[in-house]
Amino acid sequence: MLTVDTVGALRALVARARGENKKVALVPTMGNLHDGHIALIQCAKQRADFVVASIFVNPLQFGANEDLANYPRTPNADRERLVNAGCDALFAPGVEQIYPDGMVNQTIVSVPKVSEGLCGAARPGHFDGMATVVIKLLNIVQPDVAVFGEKDYQQLAVIRSMVRDLNVLTDIVAAPTIRATDGLALSSRNGYLSEQERTVAPLLYACLKQMAASIQDEKQVGERHVNECRQRIAAAGFQLEYFEVRNAQNLKPATSNDIHLVILVAARIGKTRLIDNLTVDIRQGE
Ligand code: PAF
Repeated sequence: MLTVDTVGALRALVARARGENKKVALVPTMGNLHDGHIALIQCAKQRADFVVASIFVNPLQFGANEDLANYPRTPNADRERLVNAGCDALFAPGVEQIYPDGMVNQTIVSVPKVSEGLCGAARPGHFDGMATVVIKLLNIVQPDVAVFGEKDYQQLAVIRSMVRDLNVLTDIVAAPTIRATDGLALSSRNGYLSEQERTVAPLLYACLKQMAASIQDEKQVGERHVNECRQRIAAAGFQLEYFEVRNAQNLKPATSNDIHLVILVAARIGKTRLIDNLTVDIRQGE
């Protein structure tokens, strides 16, 4: 695997791959790679001949009170995991490569509607910072395909919306969430959990499944079930940010006409903020 840390070197690698008629995929990450990221690389390998992973902890998407300084950085282990996964190139730029003139006067991409509410409400500026770095990475690599995890469902919706609005040619592919055997969605932030918090954390997925089952049984979103789940999460010691059922495409609150739904949750346990989601279709006529 070739590792480069400048935009110029990365562009040269991609140009060489293109010269060999290779289809190019990009897997953007912030490092501290786990099996969920490796699944993204595998998904990319199925769709392209030359897979570029990027590792960049993007300061622009962290709020003032967030964990930028302490965000886990494990470059050697990450490299080894990417080599073992058969990744072709690693782009690991420093902040000065991505924001050569600093971040204050950086052009910002702001995606309306889907970025509002849910995580957008709790993390002001987060989706602007995320969308800005993603469009920069897409412009640097100009991949045929870019792969993102469904675990960050609202992020994926923001990226899809941005790519559509800005006529970006890259095909955005969603890879399913990878879970621990007890259901907890894999995330770099799981490493912050204490032993006791780790035993409680799978409750979020249990509540998503409980809610999905009630929607499928009753063929509608029962407010009583939503409230039961919210209470169950709070009673287990989480500080609940949101537990919501939304239209799976536009993330607007679910209506009785919606068939494709997504249940989304964000909650803090101790110092750790966890998010998860589950899509559910209301099957008519059964
Ligand atoms: O999901 C992430 O790891 C980040 O938000 C991303 C997409 C790499 C942009 O920094």
